Amino acid sequence: MSHAVTRTRVGRRGAPAIQSSSRPALTWVVEGADAGWLQAGASIELRRADGSRERVEHAGRDSANVAWPFAPLAAYDAVDVRVSAVSEAGEYAAFSEWTPVATGPLGADEWTAPFIASRDDRSEACALDATVARGATAADVRADLAADDADRGVTRLRRIVDIERPVARALLSYTGHGIVELTIDGREVSDDLFAPGWTAYADRLLFRTVDVTAELAEGTRILGARVAPGWYAEHFGFDGDFRRTWHGQRALSAQLRVEFADGTVDTIVTDETWEASIAGPVTFSSIYQGERYDARREDEALAAAVPFPGAAPAVRVAADPTRLRPAELPPVRVTETRDVVQRLAGADGGVILDFGQNLVGRLRIRLAAEAGTVVTLRHAEVLEQGELGRRPLRFAAASDTYVASGGPAEWAPRFTFHGFRYAQVDGISVDQIEVVAEVLHTDLVRTGTLRTGVADLDRLHENVVWGTRGNFVTLPTDCPQRDERLGWTGDIQVFAPTASFLFDVDGFLSSWLEDFAADQARLGGVGPLYSPLIDQDLFAPTPMAAWSDAATVVPTVLYERFGDRDVLERQFASMSAWVERVAQEAPNGHWHTGMQLADWLDPSAPADRPFEAQTDPYLVATAYYARSAALTARAARILDRAEDAARFEALAETARQAFQREYVFADGRLASDSQTAYALAIVFELLPHELYAPAGQRLATIVADGGHRIGTGFVGTPIVSDALTVTGHRDVAQGMLRTAELPSWLYPVSRGATTVWERWDSMLPDGTINPGEMTSFNHYALGAVADWMHRDMGGIAPLEPGYRRVLVRPRAGLTAAAGASYSSVYGEIRVAWSALEPERGELSPLAVTVTLPANTTAMIDLPGREALEVGSGTHTF
Ligand code: BGC
Repeated sequence: MSHAVTRTRVGRRGAPAIQSSSRPALTWVVEGADAGWLQAGASIELRRADGSRERVEHAGRDSANVAWPFAPLAAYDAVDVRVSAVSEAGEYAAFSEWTPVATGPLGADEWTAPFIASRDDRSEACALDATVARGATAADVRADLAADDADRGVTRLRRIVDIERPVARALLSYTGHGIVELTIDGREVSDDLFAPGWTAYADRLLFRTVDVTAELAEGTRILGARVAPGWYAEHFGFDGDFRRTWHGQRALSAQLRVEFADGTVDTIVTDETWEASIAGPVTFSSIYQGERYDARREDEALAAAVPFPGAAPAVRVAADPTRLRPAELPPVRVTETRDVVQRLAGADGGVILDFGQNLVGRLRIRLAAEAGTVVTLRHAEVLEQGELGRRPLRFAAASDTYVASGGPAEWAPRFTFHGFRYAQVDGISVDQIEVVAEVLHTDLVRTGTLRTGVADLDRLHENVVWGTRGNFVTLPTDCPQRDERLGWTGDIQVFAPTASFLFDVDGFLSSWLEDFAADQARLGGVGPLYSPLIDQDLFAPTPMAAWSDAATVVPTVLYERFGDRDVLERQFASMSAWVERVAQEAPNGHWHTGMQLADWLDPSAPADRPFEAQTDPYLVATAYYARSAALTARAARILDRAEDAARFEALAETARQAFQREYVFADGRLASDSQTAYALAIVFELLPHELYAPAGQRLATIVADGGHRIGTGFVGTPIVSDALTVTGHRDVAQGMLRTAELPSWLYPVSRGATTVWERWDSMLPDGTINPGEMTSFNHYALGAVADWMHRDMGGIAPLEPGYRRVLVRPRAGLTAAAGASYSSVYGEIRVAWSALEPERGELSPLAVTVTLPANTTAMIDLPGREALEVGSGTHTF
C-alpha cells in the first residue's frame, strides 16, 4: 500500500489568490496512489479563523471543479480547507495540507469607494470623433489621433495615511476607468499589469484585490496610484474608423481594508481627501501609439510626504457601482526577458535590434545619457529590405519615447504593449544603452506540450504557443501589433481547443464569455463579431456564422477540456439566444441571409477581399447552424433541461436536413467542391451515413491533387486534418502538415517565422510583405491545426470532461522518439513513444509509455493491437 495524499486547489488555476466567488469550486488531485486508483468518496474539511471545523462527506468520482459544499463565504472571509479521499478499493489518500481561502469584496454590495479623478483631466474632448463622423482621410485621422491623445498623460493620485497600530491583515481592492497601478510608499503593490483589463465596461468592470499586510508597517504610509488612459480612453477601430467608446476622465476607485491586531477594522477609500495631478513623467500613453516619458519630470510624490507637483484635491466622478465584479482571470505579468540576438544597421544611422522571436511586450532600457537626450524605440514584427516593416501596423505608431534626465537610469513603458521581433533605437549611440525585451501576457498556467521529433513541426508548434501568449492579454485578440487588437470572436472560436490544451484558459475565457454575453444581449441575441464592442457600426448587428458561434463553441470547449459545468450553466442563456436568433434567419434550416465572413482568408481569395472564398458562405452558415444547435442541445442535456434539449435537437436536425438538401449530391460530392466544405460536412456530422466514405475520398483527392497544399481559411483549417483522419486518410493529413509549399503550415516556418501568421503568405516568397492591408505576423487562428496534432500525434484527447477518461491514440508521425504531456484538472497525463534505435537512427518496434493520474482511465489505442481500457499509473506497451 502506498502513501497517497491529496493536493487541494480552490478556484480555477492561475486565478487571483483572493477568491472571486463566495462558492469557489474545489479540485483535488491524489498523488502517490496505487495504479488504477478510482475515487469512491472524499472528506472535505473547513477550518474557520476561530478554530471551529466542519466536515462534508462527498460521495462518488467527482474530484475536479466540485461545487463548494459549505455555506457561501462572506466578503473578507478567511478559512482553510483540506480534502482526503478514498478509492473504490479502499485505499486511503491522506488529507492535503490546509489550503487557505480568502475573499475580499465580492461585488458592488461591499464596494464603498467613490471613483475619483483629477479636476484638470480634460480627456473627454475628442476631435477625432467629430473627424471620423464627417468621413476622414488617413491624414486627418493620424493628425487627430496625435492631437487628441496629446493631453493623455497619466493621472497620479495620493493619500498620506498614518498607521497607528500593528496590522493583522490589510486588503487593497482597486479598479478604475483606465489602466490602474497602485503603490504604497512608491512601490507597486502587485506585479499585475493592465488592471482592470478590458471588459464590456458598461456592464462589467473588474476589480482586483491584493494582500498588502507586509507593506503597511506602523508609521506614515503613502498610498499612491497611476491611472493611464488604456482601453477605456483609447480610440479603437480599424479601416480609419476609430471611436472612443467610453467618455470621461481617467478615474480610480480603491478601498483599503485594514484589520488591526487589536481586532478593530478601518477602511480607507478614494475620496476628496486624495490629491490628484496630471503632471508627471508619463506625458502621453496609448496602447496603439505607445508611451512618452520625460525623466526630467520625475518626482518623489508617490514615495514620500513631499510636495506633489500640480496636485489639487481629487474630484468625484459618477460611476455605476453595480458593474463591479471581482476579477476571476489571471493577471497580466511579465513572464520572460529576452536579450538582443543580433544588431543590424538601420536607415539614418539608427540601429535595429533583433530579439530572435516575434513577441508581445515592451523594451526595458538601461542607459546613461545627457539630460534632454531623446531616445525613440520603434517596433516591427518583420524586416523588409533591411528596414523595419511597419506598414502592417496601419494607424498604430507603436513607438515609445524616453527623454533622459542625465545620469544612469532604467525605464520600460508601463501602459502600452507592442508586437515585435525588431526594434529600432534612435537618438543615442548603442554603446550608451542596454536593451532587453520583456514578454507579457495574461499569466496562464501552461498545461500542454508536444514533441514531434521533427524540427520544423516542433517549430510550428512553438509558433502556435507564442501566438497564444501574445494574443491573450486580458482578452483573446486577433493580433497584438496593429490597430484593431480586438476580441474577434471567430478567431477564438476556431482556436479555443488548441489554446485549452496549451494553457489553462478556463478562468480567462469564461470571464471573456461574460463580456460576450453582455454584448450579445445589447445586439438582441446576435453574437458580437468582437467583444468588447466598440462604437463601430461596421457590421453590427449582423449574425455571422463562425464568429457569432463563439457563443456555443467556447463554453463547450471549456466544459470538455476542464470539466467546468459551471460555465455551461452561466452561458446557457447566451448559447440558446444565439441559436434562436439563427432559427429566425433560417426558418427551414437553410441559413442563406446577409453578409458572411465565412471561410475567411481562404488562400484562393484575392488579397484585398478575404471573404471571397471558394466555399459557399451559406454552406458554411448552414453547417454552423447545425453545429451550434447540436452543441446547445448537448449542453441542455448536461444541465438536465430536457425540454430545451429536445427543441435544439430538432433545430439541429432541421439544419442538417437543409444542408443535405441544398449542398449534398447523391454521390457524396458537395455543391462547393472545396476542402472546407468536405471538412465541415464530415466533422460536424452533417451527412447521411453512407456518404462519409465518398466525401472523405473526395477530400483526400482534392488535397492530394493540390500537392497537399492547404485550401482552407479560418473555418476549414482547424478541422480539415480531422476530416481526413476520421475518413481513413491520415497519410494525406500528414502530407498536408509536412509540405512547405505555399500555402501550407510549414511555409512560414521555412521563411523563419517564429509566430503563426494571419495569412498563409503574410511574407511573400520574394521577401516582400503581402500587399493586403490586413497582414499580421501574429494571428493564432491558422495555428488551430495544433489541436489535431495534440490528439493525433501527441495521442492525448478527452473522452470525458476534464480528461477524466482519455483517448490515447498517437498515430500520425510515429517515426521518432517523441511525446506529449498535459496537465489536466485531474493531474499530469504523459504519452511518450520511441520508434527509433537511438544509436543507429533506424526504425525499431514502437514502444509507448503512458502515465495517467489517479481517478482517471484511458482507452489505449495503438497501431496493430486491439484497443484496451486502463486505469491510472504508468503503462508500457
Ligand atoms: C481580424 C480577423 C477577424 C476579421 C473578421 C480582421 O481584421 O484581424 O482576425 O476575424 O477581421 O472580419
